[in-house]
Amino acid sequence: MMTKMNLVDVRNEARKKLMGICGVYKDCDGSPMRICQGQSYGKPLKFGGIGSGTSFHNNFLAFRKYNLKMKVIGDHFEPDTSYDFFGKKLSLPVMAASVAGVNSFGGESLISEKEFCRSVVLGSKAAGTVGWRGDSYNYSLENAFGIDAIAEANGWGVKIVKPRDQESIMKFFKKAEQIGCIAVGTDVDGCESFAMSAHNIPVFRKNLDDLKELITSTKLPVIIKGIMFVEDAELAYQAGAAAIVVSNHGGRVLDHTPGSLDALPGIASKMKGKIKILLDGGIRTGYDVIKALALGAEAVLIGRDIVRAAVGAGIEGVRIHMEYLQKTLAKAMKMTNCKDLSEVKSGILVKT
Ligand SMILES: Cc1cc2nc3c(=O)[nH]c(=O)nc-3n(C[C@H](O)[C@H](O)[C@H](O)COP(=O)(O)O)c2cc1C
Repeated sequence: MMTKMNLVDVRNEARKKLMGICGVYKDCDGSPMRICQGQSYGKPLKFGGIGSGTSFHNNFLAFRKYNLKMKVIGDHFEPDTSYDFFGKKLSLPVMAASVAGVNSFGGESLISEKEFCRSVVLGSKAAGTVGWRGDSYNYSLENAFGIDAIAEANGWGVKIVKPRDQESIMKFFKKAEQIGCIAVGTDVDGCESFAMSAHNIPVFRKNLDDLKELITSTKLPVIIKGIMFVEDAELAYQAGAAAIVVSNHGGRVLDHTPGSLDALPGIASKMKGKIKILLDGGIRTGYDVIKALALGAEAVLIGRDIVRAAVGAGIEGVRIHMEYLQKTLAKAMKMTNCKDLSEVKSGILVKT
């Protein structure tokens, strides 16, 4: 009889398959020693961070600036990690990030784009959460791998479109609306997308009017991803966005940015309560998740670890990975005396 896989099996499998692309290290920290790193001097981006990898590395370092205050005397409870995302009850405030383009990180012989998207969307759904899907140079309305996977999951997903020309984005939004997606959005920091520019697909900076046009073109909630500056957060809010993702794109669009967690407190102090604030970049465990929530994010997204889970064991790999995140978050909440997400506050953190 086959024994059930666990997360170690999934990651061991991913390590074998991703040889030469990703070491599936204990710490995915974007340090210059990692095999994914060192894009300088013309090396392709693949799975690493842009340029020297400083932005990718800063995402990791930002989480090491905080530790958790243990508070363990009091009545017993089992933490409730459930989270409401646009009216859908999720088992945890963690979703799969909008990663696309297996051929841009060198994974095309390991998993097809179609199977990758299915693994992320259906695996996240099986764990009670949501898979977001991204966009790449080989996506079109006819080859809409992400939207197709979300359609298979009866609309249970989020579609993020690169900042292409306005008309193309609105067509993707319309298609996402037709299949009943939960929300759509655009990664405004993708105006410097390595994959798009390497294949001559134009992407653009977006101004307030552009964002308003996109947001009013659809009935769905619109998410603006790639916010690192409070002024940008304010503009997304003014345009009518339903949510922002504080993100430096996993350190893949501009060298030498702070970590996304570094940018969060400033943005949260001005925007919390006005707009939904999400965050990604460098989150590997539930202990990282609770730090992001304590500093003002409502929920977070996981990029590279979900790629490793999908390559390692497809739908099942993603489900197992999400369940690991739920368990470690629940443990962090119990040990810091947080019964539910509303009790996760900055007071549970110690700055190192
Ligand atoms: C290989 C790869 C491809 C990505 N493609 C997209 C994309 O198509 N759209 C997007 O919004 N973000 C994309 N991202 C960024 C992720 O959505 C996310 O912001 C980032 O991976 C989070 O950091 P983490 O990998 O440390 O979790 C990509 C990231 C990676 C590693």
